[in-house]
Amino acid sequence: MRPDETRVVGQLGQSLDGRIATVSGHSKYINGPGCLSHLHRLRAVCDVVVVGAGTAIADDPQLNVRLVEGPNPARAIIDPNGRVPRDLRLFEDDGTRHLAVTAVGTEGDWPEGVEVLRLPRLACGGLCPSAIVQALAKAGLRRILIEGGSQTISRFITARSLDRLHLLIAPMIIGAGKMGLELSPIQTLQEALRPRMTPHQAGDEVLLDCDLRSCPVYS
Ligand SMILES: NC(=O)c1ccc[n+]([C@@H]2O[C@H](COP(=O)([O-])OP(=O)(O)OC[C@H]3O[C@@H](n4cnc5c(N)ncnc54)[C@H](OP(=O)(O)O)[C@@H]3O)[C@@H](O)[C@H]2O)c1
Repeated sequence: MRPDETRVVGQLGQSLDGRIATVSGHSKYINGPGCLSHLHRLRAVCDVVVVGAGTAIADDPQLNVRLVEGPNPARAIIDPNGRVPRDLRLFEDDGTRHLAVTAVGTEGDWPEGVEVLRLPRLACGGLCPSAIVQALAKAGLRRILIEGGSQTISRFITARSLDRLHLLIAPMIIGAGKMGLELSPIQTLQEALRPRMTPHQAGDEVLLDCDLRSCPVYS
């Protein structure tokens, strides 16, 4: 990477039927040790790990590096309405930076020390993913891991702001529940994203490393 470049990687741990949680939101743990180690390794090589408000509230994740050697990344939430509670584990003070990406005009109740990045809302009410990437880069955070959930990663893909997607596929069929991706419907398969994909075996699981920038319709 050049010093002025950014890289945005998304990860989804999913079942064979493409689900990342049950209907009640239970998602711990879909993946086994091989894929969980991969996730922690990804965290260790990124500058910042980002989750949406939904995941922060549903899972209260720590988002630190525990299963491999390596530094903890900064931790960021996308919380346009300032609705996450201040006692989340990702805000715990362990010497790393904490950031809240929110909308202009939102006064959230984030703990002291949280760096607040305020962005204008789009007409649809959301925050522009490429503006989020730019704001994080301006804060010195250029290697960005979007760790979920479904809505957050889907918005980044829709905005063409995700470079790579790591799908961690477990030998499990959940049958109903939250899908990993929820994109706008397409009419023909010519419009489908067909990334160049490199598979890796991790025990009885598979990591699919998808290079979204290789898709002809992804620009
Ligand atoms: N298996 C896995 O790998 C994995 C990983 C992560 C999460 N999960 C599961 O996924 C579920 C949560 O996913 P989710 O899709 O419901 O929620 P989510 O993606 O974690 O959070 C969605 C919320 O984040 C905010 N947000 C994210 N991007 C935004 C943007 N560009 N502009 C404005 N707001 C944005 C919005 O907050 P507001 O609602 O306040 O507008 C949005 O509703 C949980 O069940 C969790 O366990 C699974």
